[in-house]
Amino acid sequence: MIGRLNHVAIAVPDLDAAIALYRDTLGADVKPKQDEPDHGVTVVFITLPNTKIELLHPLGDASPIQGFLDKNPSGGIHHICYEVEDILAARDKLQASGARVLGTGAPKIGAHGKPVLFLHPKDFTGTLIELEQI
Ligand code: CO
Repeated sequence: MIGRLNHVAIAVPDLDAAIALYRDTLGADVKPKQDEPDHGVTVVFITLPNTKIELLHPLGDASPIQGFLDKNPSGGIHHICYEVEDILAARDKLQASGARVLGTGAPKIGAHGKPVLFLHPKDFTGTLIELEQI
């Protein structure tokens, strides 16, 4: 059911420092900052030959990643995103097997303009999983 790894998301306490690290130290192709007020984050995509890295930084007072950064002050891997062809079919299959989908269960439009869902980390070996319909 899941396809390619779309991205790995890393929550960072200092976005400019993380951009400089990936652009200057690691020599990666770093895209411009993108504010996502609906998701409470500013994101920066880094294009690698085989996948993307998504740097996440809190936007606004009620950012869903603020708690993660409070627990992980240096930052850390926040979620990984797998591609699926049919997000509603994937959701229904996962829910039927007992997996919890976060929020209302209805897909939201993610940072790439495509429908996304998040799966509860406790049901997936401690890893927050994002599904993105490609
Ligand atoms: Co993501």
